[in-house]
Amino acid sequence: NPDILVGENDLTALSYLHEPAVLHNLRVRFLESNHIYTYCGIVLVAINPYEQLQIYGEEVINAYSGQNMGDMDPHIFAVAEEAYKQMARDERNQSIIVSGESGAGKTVSAKYAMRFFATVGGSSNDANVEEKVLASNPIMEAIGNAKTTRNDNSSRFGKYIQIVFSKHYHIIGANMRTYLLEKSRVVFQAEEERNYHIFYQLCASASLPEFKEFSLNSAEEFHYTSLGENIFIEGVNDAEDLVKTREAFSLLGVKESNQSSIFKILASILHLGNVAIVAERDGESCRIARNDVHLQHFCRLLGVELQQMEHWLCHRKLATASETFMKTMSSKQALNARDALAKHIYARLFDWIVEHINKALQTSSKQHSFIGVLDIYGFETFEVNSFEQFCINYANEKLQQQFNSHVFKLEQEEYMKEQIPWTLIDFYDNQPCIDLIEARLGILDLLDEECKVNQNLGLVTMETSSSSLALHQGFLLFQVEYQCEGFLEKNRDTVYEEQINILKASQFQLVANLFQDKDDASSSKSSKVNIRPLKTAPKVPNKEHRKTVGHQVRVWFCRDSLNLLVLVLIFLETIRISAAGYPSR
Ligand SMILES: Nc1ncnc2c1ncn2[C@@H]1O[C@H](COP(=O)(O)OP(=O)(O)OP(=O)(O)O)[C@@H](O)[C@H]1O
Ligand SMILES: *[C@@H]1O[C@H](CO)[C@@H](O)[C@H](O)[C@H]1NC(C)=O
Ligand SMILES: *[C@@H]1O[C@H](CO)[C@@H](O)[C@H](O)[C@H]1NC(C)=O
Ligand SMILES: *[C@@H]1O[C@H](CO)[C@@H](O)[C@H](O)[C@H]1NC(C)=O
Ligand SMILES: [Mg+2]
Repeated sequence: NPDILVGENDLTALSYLHEPAVLHNLRVRFLESNHIYTYCGIVLVAINPYEQLQIYGEEVINAYSGQNMGDMDPHIFAVAEEAYKQMARDERNQSIIVSGESGAGKTVSAKYAMRFFATVGGSSNDANVEEKVLASNPIMEAIGNAKTTRNDNSSRFGKYIQIVFSKHYHIIGANMRTYLLEKSRVVFQAEEERNYHIFYQLCASASLPEFKEFSLNSAEEFHYTSLGENIFIEGVNDAEDLVKTREAFSLLGVKESNQSSIFKILASILHLGNVAIVAERDGESCRIARNDVHLQHFCRLLGVELQQMEHWLCHRKLATASETFMKTMSSKQALNARDALAKHIYARLFDWIVEHINKALQTSSKQHSFIGVLDIYGFETFEVNSFEQFCINYANEKLQQQFNSHVFKLEQEEYMKEQIPWTLIDFYDNQPCIDLIEARLGILDLLDEECKVNQNLGLVTMETSSSSLALHQGFLLFQVEYQCEGFLEKNRDTVYEEQINILKASQFQLVANLFQDKDDASSSKSSKVNIRPLKTAPKVPNKEHRKTVGHQVRVWFCRDSLNLLVLVLIFLETIRISAAGYPSR
């Protein structure tokens, strides 16, 4: 490219637009001028500076407010302003999609966009509705973010929040939808990783008088918080963060008493993880040590009966056509069941909190329009990649596919149709990879099939299936190697009914409510995000294994939550408009 173009703030201005030119341009801007933002049409490219830049103050928000995108330096605020302006001017709802690999800065960017809206859309009558919208962030970070080896603040769930405006374009509320929390983290973390921040916040505050009844201790003392063998994050003070979490809960109208119930349930999970299960000599049964204090705390905190719990942690019911009998569990089975219960409790609590945040942000006045912000977990690959990475990366492949299909496939078809001179761009089409996962007899189907057929030998068969799968073209396209061990267990996600029944009978209303059955719960739960589906979904497997995790992911990302994908479509509609200028350049 001619020198004069190097350092351009819009990549589409480059005469030669290919990867080296793009990278060179971004590098020059970042290294020579400390500019982390660059446009590519209406897409904003952000580089994570990993240091606090003085470019997010209120005065900067005001400087961007009301300006045209092209007149100002590229900035997340310029994108937010553009969305706000188009919502008001064109009377169209807007969405901002933040994408990038884990640690790229998605959540930070999403928060700045939300701050921009809170500032320019501040309302005159209900002064703190925008504060409430922002207050959802620290709560969701506390319960849904954790330290991974890639990011100290890694989001372990996907989030789509719609900020709702009145006809005067003031914020009047918001609603949020979450996708696929990484439940396994509650009971397991790899080296140098942590469980969800909230657990460390509670442990660091164990000595508070109002927390005495939780019988907490240092996070090092709990199995579920110490598996990563390092409970600290540099520069983070967990006790101080808890103060912020509590303030945010209060701002959202969650009363002290309900906050206390939330913390109690969280503490009970930590105690559950410390319940010692002792193998009996026969190898087929187990028991819980006499006077296990952690079991006592668990039962006390949840208001459930100790003898019952003790019994059903080590036994299960087996029903045949004619009779029901009781079976002992091996210590390994009991441990798995204990962990499954802990994950289940956490997931239910997470959903309950999201529901409450939504209630607090609900508006009674008429919704005129909205701006949505989508922040999902980024694509990730670790040394060992398991079912969680598989699901996360599948979601990212789906996003990428939509992007490809609209930016490249359809756009180029359009040009051909209109006979605009244009050389076809060869792009990486990830369709085979997606087919491999979600098509009939793809990985998700096979997993569900294995879960149904195989009660115990799952691991072995999965390994066989996957080695034949490896031959399939799509599998290589992942460029991530997945460890099959545990796939089936995680997909099946069994929790024993007897244990749940005990929790349902809790003397505490909130605990009892948490475990009431929902009909086909999470997957088909109606959502306020209401967008019509665009294309037919892959066949949904029959009822028996409807509730596997894989099934839910597929439902989320294929069928009713075409939601998520339709968002991308809406967004890309806009690109089409702006991209119409490209060929003439
Ligand atoms: N604009 C920025 N200015 C300063 N630091 C930033 C910025 N964006 C990101 N960071 C730093 O990078 C870290 C990771 O960013 P963030 O948590 O937003 O990543 P992410 O893309 O959401 O990752 P994940 O997919 O794991 O959730 C932040 O904690 C922060 O330290
Ligand atoms: C990371 O998360 C903690 C909450 O646990 C929060 O206090 C902190 O500000 C976050 N960091 C960034 C850069 O967002
Ligand atoms: C507290 O929780 C109870 C039980 O779920 C609920 O009925 C009540 O509305 C909650 N109150 C607040 C302020 O969140
Ligand atoms: C925008 O969304 C609101 C719901 O929040 C809806 O009532 C309205 O009709 C939508 N506007 C357009 C132009 O689709
Ligand atoms: Mg994030």
